[in-house]
Amino acid sequence: MKVIVCENYDEMSKEGAKIIASLLKNKPCCVLGLATGSTPVGMYKELAGMNRAGEITFKDVTSFNLDEYYPLEPTHEQSYRYFMNVNLFDHVDINKEHTHVPDGLAKDPTAMGEAYDAAIEAAGGIDLQVLGLGPNGHIAFNEPEEELYAGTHLTSLTESTIKANSRFFASVSDVPTKAVTMGIGSIMKAKKIIVLASGKGKHAVVEKMLSGRITTMCPGTLLLAHADVTLIVDRDAYEG
Ligand code: F6R
Repeated sequence: MKVIVCENYDEMSKEGAKIIASLLKNKPCCVLGLATGSTPVGMYKELAGMNRAGEITFKDVTSFNLDEYYPLEPTHEQSYRYFMNVNLFDHVDINKEHTHVPDGLAKDPTAMGEAYDAAIEAAGGIDLQVLGLGPNGHIAFNEPEEELYAGTHLTSLTESTIKANSRFFASVSDVPTKAVTMGIGSIMKAKKIIVLASGKGKHAVVEKMLSGRITTMCPGTLLLAHADVTLIVDRDAYEG
């Protein structure tokens, strides 16, 4: 795993954007795997700026997001579809019909998950997957557990994740307790992965990832088994 240590959040965002921009220049019709949450917001702003300046284009890009709350309609202000529109898609020249977010209203989440993974494969697989890290080590919504799913599936969120994400909702009781999420296999099939982590709250997970040991109780460590992962951290996440 390659590690890039940045001084602060802004630098981390610029580093991440640089890697995505370079892929967009080399392969304009690439497939991006995208994450939501606070961490990638600055990187998405950078990318929107580069797009405005004419340095990069998203017009031939296809994207697949990691996860979506369940059940939640895509128009809900806390849905991850809404987040992606507001933080990236509305500000770049991407064709929204080529952007995908797992269906938070799927009647049959198992069938939806299978179709989602099949759609990723049919698009040629993910060229570059963006990940954040949960304070408990989750990636997408693969929470620490003895057994993890390979494919996209319906899952329950842990108490700690519900609490962490309640900052975006009016109250903790408004946070959905379930989500549909790409599985570990869906993520590990990506050709390249960048993981962003910022702030002292991520230090414990970053430290585990740097320990060289792998455990499903900290899903981020599973990335150590992938051939092309770049961890981009700011100094607070790196040093604690
Ligand atoms: C988001 C996602 C989550 C977040 C993680 C960190 O699509 O899959 O795993 O990356 O919860 O969230 P932030 O960035 O808000 O700390």
